[in-house]
Amino acid sequence: MYFGGDYNPEQWPEHVWHEDVALMRRARVNLVTLGVFSWSSLQPAPGRWEFGWLDRVVDLLHDNDIQVNLATPTASPPPWFGRRFPDTLTVTADGTRLSHGSRDTYCVSAPAYRAASKELASVLADRYGGHPALAMWHVHNEYGTWCHCDHVAAAFRVWLRARHGDLATLNERWTTAFWSQGYSDWDEILPPRATQWLPNPSQVLDFRRFLSDEMLAHFTEQRDILRPTGRPITTNFAFGSWVPVDHWKWAREADLIAVDDYPTGDLAEESAFAADLARSWAGDKPWILMEQAAAVEYTRERTLPRPPGDLARATLIHIERGSIGAMFFQWRASRGGAEQWHHGMVPHAGPDTRTFREIADLGETLAARAHRSAALTPIKDRAPEIAIIWDDEAWWALQSRSLPSQDLDYLEAVKQPHRLLYRAGHQIAFAHPEHDLSPYRLVIVPSLLPITDAALANLAACRGAVLMSYFSAVTDEHLRVRLGGHLPAFGITIKEHRPLAEPLTLSDGTRASLWSEEIRLEGAEAVITYPDGTPAITRLGKAWYVSTRLADKAYERLLTCLLRPSYYSTGTHGER
Ligand code: GAL
Repeated sequence: MYFGGDYNPEQWPEHVWHEDVALMRRARVNLVTLGVFSWSSLQPAPGRWEFGWLDRVVDLLHDNDIQVNLATPTASPPPWFGRRFPDTLTVTADGTRLSHGSRDTYCVSAPAYRAASKELASVLADRYGGHPALAMWHVHNEYGTWCHCDHVAAAFRVWLRARHGDLATLNERWTTAFWSQGYSDWDEILPPRATQWLPNPSQVLDFRRFLSDEMLAHFTEQRDILRPTGRPITTNFAFGSWVPVDHWKWAREADLIAVDDYPTGDLAEESAFAADLARSWAGDKPWILMEQAAAVEYTRERTLPRPPGDLARATLIHIERGSIGAMFFQWRASRGGAEQWHHGMVPHAGPDTRTFREIADLGETLAARAHRSAALTPIKDRAPEIAIIWDDEAWWALQSRSLPSQDLDYLEAVKQPHRLLYRAGHQIAFAHPEHDLSPYRLVIVPSLLPITDAALANLAACRGAVLMSYFSAVTDEHLRVRLGGHLPAFGITIKEHRPLAEPLTLSDGTRASLWSEEIRLEGAEAVITYPDGTPAITRLGKAWYVSTRLADKAYERLLTCLLRPSYYSTGTHGER
């Protein structure tokens, strides 16, 4: 069981390192992530390398039985790098070339940045790859910088050629006949830069797919350089609507799945959500909670200390779901810099603080649990029977600016059934729409706007019940509408989408909001209706369709009904 956090010794004089390791031992820290933002300390000027400080830190940690998760520092190029290679600085959608001054200012498609990333990985592999303290590699940090420069445009075109083959196909799939966007030459195609009004949604979705693949290529390039050292290789996933990472795809490429979790709502529910996602992305691989805040709770306006006990509560939710460790950002709170108010495991006030005591207690608890690992049955070993479909592409598609309602919220549509099932004590897995869904007795499909033919067939062939919610399966993967609105597996046709301005009351007395649809029954029965008597929730055998956003109570009731053991044993569900 790993316990520790990001350690940034380069921010501190050397005598503090000795206090650090003594405190780490006291808190039972056994792993630290080193070097995430150390590029300028390792290579302070072109061609000048300074490893002495890192050598001493790694040895000091090793002497104290603390292992190292060594990062490649590519997330934050130093000022000299941007000055020397201005074409590696990020360009925003409106054409602004960003300056150095923050972090994550890079262009993942810029050849000079790619070359420097490879050089960093190989220099670190050569120097530390055989060090006994090295437990794993941490490539980059939270991939996610969007660039729109000419390098990106060129790489995007290469990616598009591979995906669509020829321009005629691309024009067809992107429906470029609309608004006179037909392309006659690949070089006319741009990343979705600032434009006059609404952009082409198919182009935007493809760009996000491209960004995910392009960043993944940057990850795998480094991974392959580090590979001969024989240590596991990971990268930490951030979680946000801006993150262009297709997690299912990326999870196949990393040895260890690592997630950062900074809950902003209900601590237990959000921690369980993040942990269930991480566990599901990992599949048979190990996963780890790589970052969480030691003592900070973010609200929109304020950064507050976490209430006593929360730190352990959130951590244990992750551990119970199979995380092989609990890591924090960061070990010691920084004196200065942009995140000086983000607390550390050791706060500014030092170890004689509630936070450090809670950290040390948690270290103790985890060490004791690791010794009695049988007492802890990870959820991984208790195969969940319920799956919720998670699809990054659907999340991206639902962020399009040209939807019938701007209130559609993919994340909330996925979180709602998760939190209701979590509250009811169920184990939940997430699955991709094209995964093998046979292990599940219930598959929930929240607002899955784009869907491939293969995924549609996969859902239709489910052994268990399927509960699909509004605005699902409306387009193909290129965001072209599936004409006719037929959902034969559900015995219905969707005739119209009718976003709701106000909530309404359904026939069972519960409230619904956000969205409604006009459904024609084609074999299904109406289980619950709208105030005008038309179907709101339908059922054909085991295939259920919910055409509106249910209030928690109504959703809960529906889930209870679907999960009642008798529902399966009495055969009342009929045949499809
Ligand atoms: C994470 C990031 C860390 C640190 C932390 C606290 O997302 O990886 O470097 O910034 O947030 O804000």
